[in-house]
Amino acid sequence: MSAERWSPESWRSRPVAQVPEYPDPAALADVERQIAGFPPLVFAGEARKLKRALAKVAAGEAFLLQGGDCAESFNEHSADNIRDFFRVFLQMAVVMTFAGSSPVVKVGRIAGQFAKPRSAPTEKKGDIELPSYRGDIVNGMDFTAEARIPDPRRQLEAYRQSAATLNLLRAFATGGYANLENAHRWMLGFVKDSPQSDRYQELADRITETLGFMRAIGLDPESHPELRQTDIYTSHEALLLGYEQALTRVDSTTGDHYDTSGHMIWIGDRTRQPDHAHIEFCRGVKNPIGLKCGPTLKPDEMLRLIDLLNPTNEPGRLTLICRFGSDKIAEHLPGLIRAVEREGRKVVWSSDPMHGNTITAAGYKTRPFDRIMSEIRTFFAIHRAEGTYAGGVHLEMTGKNVTECMGGARAITETNLSEMYDTSCDPRLNAEQSIEVAFLVAELLKDERQARGLPQVDAAE
Ligand code: PEP
Ligand code: CO
Repeated sequence: MSAERWSPESWRSRPVAQVPEYPDPAALADVERQIAGFPPLVFAGEARKLKRALAKVAAGEAFLLQGGDCAESFNEHSADNIRDFFRVFLQMAVVMTFAGSSPVVKVGRIAGQFAKPRSAPTEKKGDIELPSYRGDIVNGMDFTAEARIPDPRRQLEAYRQSAATLNLLRAFATGGYANLENAHRWMLGFVKDSPQSDRYQELADRITETLGFMRAIGLDPESHPELRQTDIYTSHEALLLGYEQALTRVDSTTGDHYDTSGHMIWIGDRTRQPDHAHIEFCRGVKNPIGLKCGPTLKPDEMLRLIDLLNPTNEPGRLTLICRFGSDKIAEHLPGLIRAVEREGRKVVWSSDPMHGNTITAAGYKTRPFDRIMSEIRTFFAIHRAEGTYAGGVHLEMTGKNVTECMGGARAITETNLSEMYDTSCDPRLNAEQSIEVAFLVAELLKDERQARGLPQVDAAE
């Protein structure tokens, strides 16, 4: 199968799951033609730089932090939301970098995360049954027959919003806002206000001391651009293949195809059938690729997918994003790790502790914070036992203090869920819960470094 010729449209002759039927194919073709003429959102060179960074993760020399909305929305597109996300994301990265003495590769689920796979094709309320909402790039969330009709013009809006978001992210990342001392100040604010501030104070003090020391020897953001800039990459699920194809371009320096809709794209757990369209599309573009691995993925099928997606075993090309559920990970992950090790495959192992831990409480889709933390802990423990590297986390999160996941230091309960439940799809960690996760990961990274005999940041400990 992999020997067959690939082209940006070769996926069209394969069975395709989760892609909607548009009532007006001519209007769809017209939109896709327009988008094919638009400028790329990201450049091939940037995608290659991310791949090199991920190759370091695969080698155990860096850690991947990937996160953002389950689904971006047209209504909630604002500079404030992007800034709040960026701030929290950067704080998380600072916490992990210091505690783990490990570079953190930052990849947002942002600037293109608009299309959603659904477990059911229709949704029922009372006697009314309508097509499911499939993300703002496809149809509208309102529960009306009209809103649920797939409208291709929405792809133009998704492109526009992605471009605007990416523009602001680039400005934040390079324009001084991402200054390391700023990120540290925000983190101190978080620690002070957290109900569990004692637990975090020690690490916060250590970072303060380190930055003071760096400043004293002349390493300050004013004179060292690398301390006032950062790299942040974008990613989304490559679900709506017509849109992805329209943004796929030949890179003039290498002659290779890149999907320029985002730096990294991933394949969802519902669309990873080896002979179907999503695998076919993704195998031919050279971006870093993620593959969601859920409880139904068997080791043999995983190896077949790895062969298709990364036949040359290029490190950094493939990230396996594991999303089993806190009660299932121990049963499924070791078998996958052993198969990868046996075959000598180079992959990044990342944990998505969100998608296997969704429950319904008080009528809301939610996720218990304890289960999220538990899946991450087990992920690290299993890698330790197998002698492999727990390389990253993949989170659904926002910079706002929403009440969508239960638990955390502020103990959000079932009855709190209705207070600020804003997500257009799955429940996200709020800002505080996200930073709590970062502190947990930091501890786990530190333990891992200790176990591998690598130098610690603070030798006194
Ligand atoms: C997602 O990441 O939003 C998602 C739908 O995940 P999965 O494909 O793992 O269910
Ligand atoms: Co989701």
